[in-house]
Amino acid sequence: MSLTVKKLSFTYNPGLPTEAKALQNVSFNAEKGEILSIVGHTGSGKSTLAMHLNGLLVPQSGEVIVDGLKTDSEPNNLKKIRQCVGLVFQYPEQQIFAETVRDEISFGPYNWGKRGEALEERVFEAMDLIGLDNSFASANPFLLSGGEKRRVAIASVLASEPGYLVLDEPTAGLDFTGVCELTLLLRSMSEKGICVIHITHDLELALNISDRILIISEGTVTAYGTPSEISEMLSNINVKGLILPDILSLSYELKKTGSIENLTSDPYRLAEQIKAAKMRCR
Ligand SMILES: Nc1ncnc2c1ncn2[C@@H]1O[C@H](COP(=O)(O)OP(=O)(O)O)[C@@H](O)[C@H]1O
Ligand SMILES: [Mg+2]
Repeated sequence: MSLTVKKLSFTYNPGLPTEAKALQNVSFNAEKGEILSIVGHTGSGKSTLAMHLNGLLVPQSGEVIVDGLKTDSEPNNLKKIRQCVGLVFQYPEQQIFAETVRDEISFGPYNWGKRGEALEERVFEAMDLIGLDNSFASANPFLLSGGEKRRVAIASVLASEPGYLVLDEPTAGLDFTGVCELTLLLRSMSEKGICVIHITHDLELALNISDRILIISEGTVTAYGTPSEISEMLSNINVKGLILPDILSLSYELKKTGSIENLTSDPYRLAEQIKAAKMRCR
């Protein structure tokens, strides 16, 4: 069971003066239980790719296959795919529509057939998972803070118990504590067997939390691999608009001079290697 993207291409407004090639020949695979980060600068095609993963956009060429079902075939497949792949939009305002948090979070599970106590239970479970206490249930989601709106948006997707959770730039606008809390949530989701597809422009965060990373630039895949493979690849290629973490840049320099053996973006691992190198010199 996995989500597979094969040679996916998509162009907005083809043939018009406003034509924009958003994705070209993108391929990758995401497995249950892993965190896959899709990293790229603004305009690299991340949101367009996210919308293909649950069939909001259908491929113009290539294919997206979720647990064996293609997103471009019959409507029945699309319904199953949308239940299976939960998409949290880049801006919570793109997603939120109901007058109360309870109604907002109920929408998915109600559509998939939950009623009465089972529905209520699902709503409060989802709120609990994302750290919204019960007092939020009757609040108007539009009047909440940016961080709270984002939690409501994530809870409303989690309430449908998706097998794949796609989050488009979920840390945008969050402070340090918010990012740490979100990271813990993503880890706990992947430990439950969910496939988390985390879309971000933050390479440092991706290197620290992911099992695998896909880097896209101007709609094409420039690198795909584990964080250590990606660290290695980025020492040889320059990806437009992608900011290398300072610690990774420093570790490139130290590796070149033979002071350390392994590239890392983790300051503690780098410090350990420097300490070990110093001990060897004594
Ligand atoms: N609705 C749209 N109509 C026309 N062009 C679009 C539309 N949405 C995105 N694009 C263009 O497609 C490219 C990829 O955009 P997007 O997927 O939003 O990238 P990202 O999420 O990485 O910032 C950009 O060149 C953008 O201008
Ligand atoms: Mg985007």
